[in-house]
Amino acid sequence: MIINKVVIPVAGWGTRSLPATKNIPKEMLPVYKKPTVQYVVEEAMTSGLNNVVFINNQNKKIIEDHFDYNLTLERVLERGGKEKLLAEVRQVAEMVNIISVRQKVQLGLGHAVLCAREAVKNDNFAVMVGDDLLFGAEPGIKQLIDVARSENMAVVGVMEVPQSKVSNYGIIAGEEINPGKYKVRNLVEKPPVSEAPSRLAVIGRYVLTPEIFEHLEKVEPGVGGEIQLTDALQGLAKANRLLAVKIHGQRFDAGDWVDYLTANIYFALHDEDLRDDLVQRLRELLSCS
Ligand code: G1P
Repeated sequence: MIINKVVIPVAGWGTRSLPATKNIPKEMLPVYKKPTVQYVVEEAMTSGLNNVVFINNQNKKIIEDHFDYNLTLERVLERGGKEKLLAEVRQVAEMVNIISVRQKVQLGLGHAVLCAREAVKNDNFAVMVGDDLLFGAEPGIKQLIDVARSENMAVVGVMEVPQSKVSNYGIIAGEEINPGKYKVRNLVEKPPVSEAPSRLAVIGRYVLTPEIFEHLEKVEPGVGGEIQLTDALQGLAKANRLLAVKIHGQRFDAGDWVDYLTANIYFALHDEDLRDDLVQRLRELLSCS
């Protein structure tokens, strides 16, 4: 199974992060030293996904620009002898091929994926939701690609969430065929706590086969009046064509302020130059509060 394309929907308004996102795309808010979307693209790149399809709207072109050369800046850095920074900014432009597709109206995650149809053609592809930042020994999407390849099937990434959070996610029901690997029987988008079939939540990582487009074309608006990817995945589940894999690693929801701030601290703590000073400042803050 060849998988080298990834669809990254970025056309959403980021209302959870307002007012920070009034004029800055939520994907460009920095976590530590990089915009959040760069972490997602790096996860894709290190997993062999070299063709990135951004599903975007007309107000957020700055996202594509981030993955392009900025010749004016490069000249300034060159003249200033800032070789390390120059290499860093150039490297971002050289990471992946970018294809940009317009989602002219935002009708939901399923609709965003359907917009990628012409770009994806008849290939298998990954979908990565930019709000979900995953870090660990092995890139999150790579964990799914490995299973999709060996089983020749679509795979969704899941993590266990507390009961109180199930209504924020797509929740799966399935049978565990190997430790951490499930045959999906059913999926429900954002169920009330009382109706959730499990605590296994779909996090924003998917490996899909092109047959998903046929299901997406047919699904009616679901939860929130949106075309839900979860509802199209139902079609694959009913045909016994969908697996779920528990993803290992740290996950941060960049649209949640506590997670967003924790992600910043997580990275800063991994930077030896900052670590000690940061710990010291945090201690001071905690002792004042
Ligand atoms: C989307 C999906 C949902 C999934 C979630 C993961 O929801 O519809 O099934 O669990 O991403 O982040 P959203 O967060 O866009 O409302």
